[in-house]
Amino acid sequence: MHTVIAGQGYVGLPLAVRAAEVGHRVIGYDTDPHRVQELAAGQSHVEDVPSDRLLAVLNSGAYSATADAAELAGYDIAGISVPTPLRDGVADLSHIEACAQTLGEHLSRGATVVLESTTYPGTTEELLVPILEAASSVEAGVDFFAGFSPERIAPNNTKGWSFETTPKLVSGIDAESLDVIKGFYDGIFEITVPVSGPKVVELTKLIKNTSTVLEAAAGLGSGAQADGRDGEGGAGFGRGALLNSIGWCGTCSALGSKPAVGGGVFTVGYRGVGCWG
Ligand SMILES: NC(=O)c1ccc[n+]([C@@H]2O[C@H](COP(=O)([O-])OP(=O)(O)OC[C@H]3O[C@@H](n4cnc5c(N)ncnc54)[C@H](O)[C@@H]3O)[C@@H](O)[C@H]2O)c1
Repeated sequence: MHTVIAGQGYVGLPLAVRAAEVGHRVIGYDTDPHRVQELAAGQSHVEDVPSDRLLAVLNSGAYSATADAAELAGYDIAGISVPTPLRDGVADLSHIEACAQTLGEHLSRGATVVLESTTYPGTTEELLVPILEAASSVEAGVDFFAGFSPERIAPNNTKGWSFETTPKLVSGIDAESLDVIKGFYDGIFEITVPVSGPKVVELTKLIKNTSTVLEAAAGLGSGAQADGRDGEGGAGFGRGALLNSIGWCGTCSALGSKPAVGGGVFTVGYRGVGCWG
């Protein structure tokens, strides 16, 4: 499958390399030419992706990195993992907007676009899809598929949950989109958890991040992280996760890797309440 992963940062690179390893023909698209140059030379900037893994998929031809949008034409599926920083407490979705425009311009009938970036509920259906439709002049749910599936990379988890074994929530704007998106992630993750729609998953991701911040702020130690992760189990984000998950938050683009207390962001406003990241 001709796969594009837009944004080759902490979220996008592991997904792109894993997708290449399981048989997709992956283009890692990033607007930062310096990052692309490093990746094309086999230099990984992400701990979870050692450079030898990157080199293996580069050498096999399964993965390539580019800043040239023209190479995206004809993709079957595209994942969006671009930054969504908070600026003065307001979510900056300009990277999602720019990326949606680019993917829309290169979208063919039958393609699928999945958003992975952390964002407020409604982003997939109210922001992403309209931009894709306007840029492509075709209709979501008729001519292409779309959905949301949040990344749950947890750099500090100590219980052995890896990229592949952490349950992956998946959603689609309609039943067909969900089927296609679930099928894609089924080949990459051990457990996928289908959810009723993008808004539910977008909110779930924020609730999960928020609970992490609140519980850490309540003084619970990071050692409890293992319990929280256990609680999530096969259901993805379960009650156990909400009640028990402890660890780090704010590990994402806006903040760098910082502990939740002091480093995480808790925000109330702009259509969202929660910890971003
Ligand atoms: N890092 C984490 O642990 C983590 C975990 C879960 C969720 N997230 C979320 O995932 C998203 C991505 O985070 P990240 O940590 O990978 O960010 P990052 O800053 O490490 O990487 C983002 C990449 O996207 C590129 N980019 C920006 N605009 C682009 C565009 N229009 N088209 C293509 N590429 C573009 C940047 O050059 C950069 O290389 C954010 O919404 C973040 O909140 C991050």
